[in-house]
Amino acid sequence: MAKKLLRALAGEAVWPPPMWLMRQAGRYLPEYREVRAQAGGFIDLCTNPPLATEVTLQPLRRYGFDAAILFSDILMLPWALGQGLRFAEGEGPQLPPIRDEAGLAALDPARLPGAIEPILETVRRLSTTVGDATLIGFAGSPFTVACYMVQGSGSKEWDQVRLMAWCNPDLFTRLINLVTEQTIIYLSAQIDAGAEAVMLFDSWAGVLAPSLFRAHVIAPSARIAAAIRTRHPGVPVIGFPRQAGSMLGEFARATGVQGVGIDTSADPVVAAREVPAHVAIQGNLDPLVLVAGGEALARETDAVLAALRGRPFIFNLGHGIVPQTSPEHVAELVARVRAA
Ligand code: CP3
Repeated sequence: MAKKLLRALAGEAVWPPPMWLMRQAGRYLPEYREVRAQAGGFIDLCTNPPLATEVTLQPLRRYGFDAAILFSDILMLPWALGQGLRFAEGEGPQLPPIRDEAGLAALDPARLPGAIEPILETVRRLSTTVGDATLIGFAGSPFTVACYMVQGSGSKEWDQVRLMAWCNPDLFTRLINLVTEQTIIYLSAQIDAGAEAVMLFDSWAGVLAPSLFRAHVIAPSARIAAAIRTRHPGVPVIGFPRQAGSMLGEFARATGVQGVGIDTSADPVVAAREVPAHVAIQGNLDPLVLVAGGEALARETDAVLAALRGRPFIFNLGHGIVPQTSPEHVAELVARVRAA
């Protein structure tokens, strides 16, 4: 097993650490903006195998990252289940919200295999072109995907979602179970198409009370990790329970994932204590310090490196790159981590 990122996920303290950046393909790159304009809409780009392959590879050409992450979106799962999805320019995603039995019943798992076919074709194309980089497939975690499905758009508080979880736990649990089952099918298909590791993005895990976090973040993630272990032994799973705070250690122990992403607010020194020594930690430079650059970028990068040296570790940001990031600052970051 030669690839650096897979060695770290197998529990090895690789140094200098393997690195990639969340949202490494995106609007901060002029070559992405060019392809994006050619594709039409964002969903058109996600379902166009030649163009999605091209934008996945763009950041690898520039920076030589250790991982390529499939260019797609966590909301392609509800889209594949037939829930309408729109990315309105400058507004973020919009979906017709699911608030009752009829909304849940309208989801159609029979559509999924056909709908995800162009995404799987992108994975197949990537698997023959990523070279030494590790090809990461991904999905949203069931909770974060359900957030958008129930709320119908982005939100800070996700009040409609948390209210459904408390007021109609049976309906909410059935939604989570459906999304969990479909996510297993979806990730499993990505692995069959050539993904070498998979990541579960749980961007909104941090809004939940501990009992709901156990029920709707830890339990579904554990179920997905167990299913991947059974169907695809040796293919690692990275969980990213963003802003899990005091629940991080329990998440790492109870889900059985091989890697845990930590967000910007996590102290890497504390995370290194709470996450079991054989589980890789991935993170967690503030994406805005990458915008700032200069002395702050150098200092903060060194602090993350120092905190996580000597254990399985994958250098990354604490959340996705923002569009105003200078590509030159990314080059400086890569040089600094490579020289660690
Ligand atoms: O990391 C990568 O390079 C892989 C591709 C990727 C995208 N989205 C591309 C994207 C991944 C892994 C995601 C995950 C995703 N999508 C998450 C979880 C991670 C996180 O950021 O918290 C979430 C919550 C989404 C949902 C989503 N997709 C939102 C809220 C938005 C709009 C916000 C925005 O930046 O415009 C998107 C759109 C999106 N997904 C873009 C990209 C590159 C921007 C689309 C464009 O080009 O206009």
